Amino acid sequence: MNRKFVFIVFFFFFFTFQVVLADLKIGFYKTTCPRAESIIFGVVRRRFTTDKSITAALLRMHFHDCFVRGCDASILIDSKDEKQSEKDAGANLTVRGFELIDEAKQALEEECPLMVSCADIITLATRDAVALAGGLHYTVPTGRLDGLQSNVGDVNLPGPSVSVSDDLQLFTSKGMNLDEMVTLLGAHTVGFAHCNFFQNRLSSPDDGSMDPALRNQLKRNCTSSNDNPTAFLDQKTAFVFDNQFYKQIKLRRGILQIDQNIADDESTAAIVSRFASNPVTFQRSFANSMIKMGNLVANEGEVRQNCRVFN
Ligand code: HEM
Ligand SMILES: *[C@@H]1O[C@H](CO)[C@@H](O)[C@H](O)[C@H]1NC(C)=O
Ligand SMILES: *[C@@H]1O[C@H](CO)[C@@H](O)[C@H](O)[C@H]1NC(C)=O
Repeated sequence: MNRKFVFIVFFFFFFTFQVVLADLKIGFYKTTCPRAESIIFGVVRRRFTTDKSITAALLRMHFHDCFVRGCDASILIDSKDEKQSEKDAGANLTVRGFELIDEAKQALEEECPLMVSCADIITLATRDAVALAGGLHYTVPTGRLDGLQSNVGDVNLPGPSVSVSDDLQLFTSKGMNLDEMVTLLGAHTVGFAHCNFFQNRLSSPDDGSMDPALRNQLKRNCTSSNDNPTAFLDQKTAFVFDNQFYKQIKLRRGILQIDQNIADDESTAAIVSRFASNPVTFQRSFANSMIKMGNLVANEGEVRQNCRVFN
């Protein structure tokens, strides 16, 4: 094909279908909505004051958003009777924090209507929540668009007992490597898991992969009368964004099977040790991997008015 032809075809599609292409850059809203990032930060900071668990909620939401159709806020779409969206997937996530995104969106709609995408709100709010909890504050490009689809059937996230090699396959399919996978799992340094996600590790016979004292405690907690109880993923500092998670899994105190797997698998053990002994290396690596995950964008979409429904 000659270049002129490609050019004509491109413009034909562009004008015929009104395709909007995402163009990520630092400070995308600098002229169109200069206070966008500070408005989002204000909402996150206020919430964090009363609810430190918001960091974990947003991290998980961001991951589940980016790994399904790219970071396009498809995870925010509410299901309808006739059409189930990603929120209804089994992994579904018990994802939390939707109301914080709504709050930020409402403030942004008052300031600059139809300018700031829901996908960027998730990205920026997560960045801010990580920094508030003790992580590195990183600069992240913006300009994401909100996707036009959200299908329950698209959700193909790994289960909690996934093997390191199967998990790597998924990450590789998204352009991320082993080091980045181990880094991003470091997000489990905050937040909690419901017992049903690790119950299989508590039943006999004991495979020896969990510290017996922890195992006994979890057995007790998980059979409490409480309906589907939870346990902190990082048993030492559950609300601090630090490298403690790696120290804990080296002590066989990982909660999810995949968390313990990365400490035990020979392909990842050295990476875990490096992060366990060097907090600065982990924090830098985490910031870079989050930026990279945030670059998984859908290049077609809109800026939603309400994050829960398509325009
Ligand atoms: C790669 C494989 C991964 C698996 C199999 C996995 C699995 C899980 C599971 C089963 C839970 C418990 C959910 C619940 O009980 O409500 C959880 C929680 C969590 N995950 Fe992951 N995860 C993975 C990767 C990630 C990544 C890459 C991130 C972020 C960068 C992340 C962030 C979180 C956070 C912060 C929580 C706590 C959520 C809360 O407190 O509400 N996870 N994960
Ligand atoms: C997740 O899915 C279950 C059923 O699959 C549903 O009952 C629940 O409301 C969903 N959670 C959210 C947050 O949408
Ligand atoms: C078990 O429950 C108690 C009381 O809620 C809590 O303090 C403890 O941290 C839990 N243990 C584990 C391992 O989750």
